[in-house]
Amino acid sequence: MFKKSFVTVIAATTLALTACGGGSDAGGGSDDGITMGFAQVGAESGWRTANTKSIQDSAKAAGVDLKFSDAQQKQENQIKAIRSYIQQQVDVIAFSPVVESGWDTVLKEAKDADIPVILTDRSVDSADTSLYKTFLGSDFVEEGKKAGDWLVEDSASTDGPINIVELQGTTGAAPAIDRKEGFEAAIAADPDLTIVESQTGDFTRSGGKQVMEAFLKNTPDIDVVYAHNDDMGLGAIEAIEAAGKVPGKDIKIITVDAVKDGMTALSEGKINYIVECNPLLGEQLMDLAAKVVAGEEVPARVVTEESAFTPEQAKEVLASREY
Ligand code: AHR
Repeated sequence: MFKKSFVTVIAATTLALTACGGGSDAGGGSDDGITMGFAQVGAESGWRTANTKSIQDSAKAAGVDLKFSDAQQKQENQIKAIRSYIQQQVDVIAFSPVVESGWDTVLKEAKDADIPVILTDRSVDSADTSLYKTFLGSDFVEEGKKAGDWLVEDSASTDGPINIVELQGTTGAAPAIDRKEGFEAAIAADPDLTIVESQTGDFTRSGGKQVMEAFLKNTPDIDVVYAHNDDMGLGAIEAIEAAGKVPGKDIKIITVDAVKDGMTALSEGKINYIVECNPLLGEQLMDLAAKVVAGEEVPARVVTEESAFTPEQAKEVLASREY
């Protein structure tokens, strides 16, 4: 197990190590580098798959011994995994919280065991910010705002009411709460824009399809779908096509993520606008982990840089898209 008294020397060499580490999933620690316990949300979306790969690849490149668990979108599984990492006395715990609330007890247990915690991708709503060292991830409110701003601009020349249906992410998850908030704030600029239906599709393609099928049955005159991620938007496209309508034309679609499948649909005109959410957080996470284990100061918040894409822009970047 990593000895905290040798922290500075070992952390300095950790990032230079390229051999071994990464991908171990049971017990024990590494004698010559950092051991990280990572509790992942699940495998619900293309974004998540790319995020997991980025973390596993970056751990390997940095010589970090990674203990990885998949919570299958259940908070109780993540809490169990974190407790097992505490028991194994890993050097650092990182996780992407399924939902925002309900973490104080387990985070306090990690703090009492003197194990630093890094939040990545999603944050928690704990009032006590000393329970974690830093939060690395996107500004989800800003993402929702970008989606709403695009719609306000796109609808500027249209007269009359515009009916929006919203496919929300997992209930209680930071990106679902924040993307809703940012979008609603932006569309308030145009009184013609109204969210007529809003339900969770749990960030999955099947969830998006199922909810959209119900929306199409119950709600006449849907003009716009705002989906909190590409996967739900792709599910909605299947439902719209099955209902005999043309996605991107009869019903406009705005999504968040910009994974390859989403960008492909955007380049084909089935999606009208995608706000980027970058899943490639692995390298920054390993850098932050080396610093917190070495006892160095890190910023309380590290915001990921992101952009947004129109169909024309998607065509330009699609071939070189990594995920
Ligand atoms: O937390 C990031 C979100 O989680 C992504 O936008 C979504 O695709 C994922 O499931």
